[in-house]
Amino acid sequence: MLKRLEKLAKRALTELESVAEEDDLQAWKVRYLGRSAELATITAGLRDVPKEERPAVGRRANEVKTTLEAAYESRADAIRATALGRSLREERLDVTLPGRSLVRGRIHPANRTLRQIIAIWAEMGFQVYRSRDVETDEYNFQLLNFPPHHPARDMQDTFFTTDSEVLLRTHTSPGQIRVMRERAPEPIRVVLPGMCYRYEQITARSEIQFNQVEGLAIGHHITFADLKGTLNAFARRIFDESVRTRFRASYFPFTEPSAEMDIECFVCEGEGCPVCRRTGWLEILGCGMVHPIVLQNGGYDPEVFSGFAFGMGPERITMLKHGIEDIRYFWANDLRFLEQF
Ligand code: DAH
Repeated sequence: MLKRLEKLAKRALTELESVAEEDDLQAWKVRYLGRSAELATITAGLRDVPKEERPAVGRRANEVKTTLEAAYESRADAIRATALGRSLREERLDVTLPGRSLVRGRIHPANRTLRQIIAIWAEMGFQVYRSRDVETDEYNFQLLNFPPHHPARDMQDTFFTTDSEVLLRTHTSPGQIRVMRERAPEPIRVVLPGMCYRYEQITARSEIQFNQVEGLAIGHHITFADLKGTLNAFARRIFDESVRTRFRASYFPFTEPSAEMDIECFVCEGEGCPVCRRTGWLEILGCGMVHPIVLQNGGYDPEVFSGFAFGMGPERITMLKHGIEDIRYFWANDLRFLEQF
């Protein structure tokens, strides 16, 4: 029996020497130190050993067990140390390497201009009013003095829904009626920014969606001089202090009189070039005195109140400021374009 123990110990220790992986080590432990290992069987069968041999065998069995356990521990330490060494070597991190730079998002150029425009108007005392994108024919046209079949409707090709009364707003002007009906008879000074939609051929100059900023001022003694002075002040702030402007007679159904404001072409300084189509001027916005019918539709007595309105396109202003030649860049989502701003 003692011999068997010696042989067992020797075999176990020899085998342990060639164990190099954690898995094999665990298998070895089960095989030699486990509950059904040979050593355990010997210990369990001790009572069948002749009485005089029993103490010696018992002692030896315990010693073998202690030896094997110690050998197991030191082997386990060695394996862990090797694994640690390997991972330190192979998974080394070079903390001096430069990190990957983050791609940061940025504000879309049209929104940037939109924010600048809104900030300027806000400083001049105009509140921001958000009106809806989905409108009715009544608000988008009729209440703005475009009767059904009015030829001016052709200026704004429209996306209708399956319900012919419901459409995507073609301009921000219907918001004028909504503010007036909400505020009458209080004086008004608001800007209405937002997306507009037109069922048009997409070209370098026209898109099916674009932003507008509408403005509306209503009070007791508002005149065309107020309109000019206010819009000139705006132009000086969005372009620069020395910008020259002119007002050109125009037509919109909802204003009377109507005008368009031009600024002197900053590419050729009024000489005439391809950008200004040789006129020396760039069109910036439409404006006018609110038509009496529109005032009335909004709930204001045109005998008592007067007001001015204007509408401008942030994309167009952005194009002029940055020399962008094609409006389609704005919604094409080409990062090469967007990252320039
Ligand atoms: N709604 C006009 C358009 O989309 C722009 C406009 C012109 C707005 C004159 C106004 C205005 O408020 O007075 O073409």
